[in-house]
Amino acid sequence: MFRKVSAFVLAGVVATAMTGCGSTSAPAGGAGGGAAGDGKITMGFSQVGAESGWRTANTKSVQESAKTAGVELKFSDAQQKQENQIKAIRSFVQQKVDVIAFSPVVESGWDTVLKEAQNAKIPVILTDRAVDSTDTTLYKTFLGSDFVEEGKKAGQWLVEEYKDSADPVNIVELQGTTGSAPANDRKAGFAEVIAAEPKFKIAASQTGDFTRAKGKEVMEAFLKSTPDIDVLYAHNDDMGLGAIEAIEGAGKVPGKDIKIITVDAVKDGMQALADGKISFIVECSPLLGPQLMDLAKKVVAGEQVPARVVTEETTFTQEQAKQALPTRQY
Ligand code: AHR
Repeated sequence: MFRKVSAFVLAGVVATAMTGCGSTSAPAGGAGGGAAGDGKITMGFSQVGAESGWRTANTKSVQESAKTAGVELKFSDAQQKQENQIKAIRSFVQQKVDVIAFSPVVESGWDTVLKEAQNAKIPVILTDRAVDSTDTTLYKTFLGSDFVEEGKKAGQWLVEEYKDSADPVNIVELQGTTGSAPANDRKAGFAEVIAAEPKFKIAASQTGDFTRAKGKEVMEAFLKSTPDIDVLYAHNDDMGLGAIEAIEGAGKVPGKDIKIITVDAVKDGMQALADGKISFIVECSPLLGPQLMDLAKKVVAGEQVPARVVTEETTFTQEQAKQALPTRQY
């Protein structure tokens, strides 16, 4: 039932967003081979950081795909700070790269710098995470997962898991980075689905910043402050893995005393799922590199691209994780 991770679909989703993003335009300012001076496309890429296994896999995918596609990559690690991403984008504009791609650490506050790129006629591609700019002409396309859908899948598993019980279900939630698209959307999708049944109660919800260390720290606090936790919903595997250490440290059995749902499906998470410590994982694929390079070549050439490119993903039960682990790429 589960599909190969790297399968993707192209989908033009929001009709209104098509106005600016999907339209054919003249070749970009760098004219496809500008900055490097050797006919190669130069891409400035601003990465969020190295906060999780997912992010490491995503960076590898982008770097390897750039090499394969013959794209010269100027890579910058923002260490989870928006100010560093803004500086990096400004520097890419000054260097007159052909195209800028970035994964915005948070959703808000990008209009000014995106306008600067637009004025310099350098096309921008959003990858992995969205921005909340109302002016969709500021970027050409957005390639990445549907995070609301991921949250819904987590909620749907929970509803199914407790369908035969009328008892209250106490949930604690480890949110991703505050203000980031995956944190906002995974929370919203999950909340929407579980709201249908009043027995589900989110007893505590706090950010763990998508890291293992913070996931552990916040789970330790939850275990002290919240009696009778039935379920942990962590917005990524790394926070879930940190929380497992906290749960075991408190003398409880993860997967039994507390059921755990996470998002990502990186190898370490899948191993914990196969071992019965995690109960269910919603996949979020980091292998965006090949599609990103393809889109970059098209926008630099002034070709039409869809306004939204959605990554196709699946979910994993414990049994499915055992089957998938031997060939898992990341
Ligand atoms: O934006 C994708 C999210 O960012 C991943 O789910 C998480 O692990 C990462 O840090």
